[in-house]
Amino acid sequence: MYLTYFTIALYNFISTDVNKYWPSATMKKLILPFVETMATQVCNLSCQGCSNYSDLKHNGYVNWSTAKSQIEQWLDILELPDFGIIGGEPLINPEIEQWLLGLRKLLPNTQIRFTTNGLLLQKFPNLLPVLNQVGNCVFKITVHVHDDQLENYISQTQQHDQWHTVTEFGITRLKNKNNVRFQVNRPTNFIKTYKNTYKTMEPYNSDPLEAFDNCMQKTCPLLYNGKIYKCSTAGLLTDVLAKFNNPNASSWQSYIDPGISPTSSMYDIQSFINNFGQAHQQCAQCPTSKDSSLDHKITVVKANQK
Ligand SMILES: C[S@@+](CC[C@H](N)C(=O)[O-])C[C@H]1O[C@@H](n2cnc3c(N)ncnc32)[C@H](O)[C@@H]1O
Ligand code: SF4
Ligand code: SF4
Repeated sequence: MYLTYFTIALYNFISTDVNKYWPSATMKKLILPFVETMATQVCNLSCQGCSNYSDLKHNGYVNWSTAKSQIEQWLDILELPDFGIIGGEPLINPEIEQWLLGLRKLLPNTQIRFTTNGLLLQKFPNLLPVLNQVGNCVFKITVHVHDDQLENYISQTQQHDQWHTVTEFGITRLKNKNNVRFQVNRPTNFIKTYKNTYKTMEPYNSDPLEAFDNCMQKTCPLLYNGKIYKCSTAGLLTDVLAKFNNPNASSWQSYIDPGISPTSSMYDIQSFINNFGQAHQQCAQCPTSKDSSLDHKITVVKANQK
């Protein structure tokens, strides 16, 4: 195990172009290439293995004013070229359009990614005009379950605007003149990051490099309650364990992610950024490709059908 950790540290050290995310002499801020945050952890679906543990019952949503002040605290330290709004289901948050417009004001040059399961889109007829106003954004719909209204929305949207097809980072999207990119994903397999059920959950204790190789959150740090964590799985773990009265507490101990906060040392913040897109010791908690993944179509249900 220790040899693996040493290998990761060495690998991270060798493969990190230290200048890439390092502030230059003229630019004082550090660059975190991507970060995402939850507008709410509540969801109207329950996808087994959800990376944000939104298959569990949660309450409430994050006011835009709260999110704004949490993001602002980082802005003297970090440059955020790419920012994601996720959930839970972000359209459960009634302030979501305020979030989008507010985020654009706060981060004028940042790409904004907005990801939704699409099932509440009819409640927000103004969403596409808002996204056009926001510009430089990715509007991603994840289709988890068949829904006629959603399929109509997708086909109408595909015909609606003056899109042209682009391929970015191997992903085919529709793009318009406001640099809004429209993308539809239809996942077939989900990775569940812990063994057993929540009540008896245990880490996999895998080889962290192999687990990271199998990961779907390789470049997805999570901003949660003002701190930034490696990913949702790691950042939300403490809360989930507490919800279930800390099952197998000793086996989880080494996986609790302290995260970074705006008051962390520059060394810790830089180390966190240097590890962006790379394996960490805590990735050992996750499964490798040898462990089975879930057939998503049969492990997703409407939240009220659980
Ligand atoms: C956490 S969801 C939040 C936004 C919205 N509820 C949705 O599903 O699009 C963001 C993305 O993570 C993906 N995701 C979540 N858990 C996953 C898992 N265990 N395996 C693969 N993809 C996952 C979802 O498919 C979705 O595209
Ligand atoms: S739709 Fe599924 S993947 Fe998205 S937050 Fe809800 S439970 Fe998670
Ligand atoms: S802990 Fe590592 S392998 Fe697991 S989800 Fe997070 S980044 Fe991926």
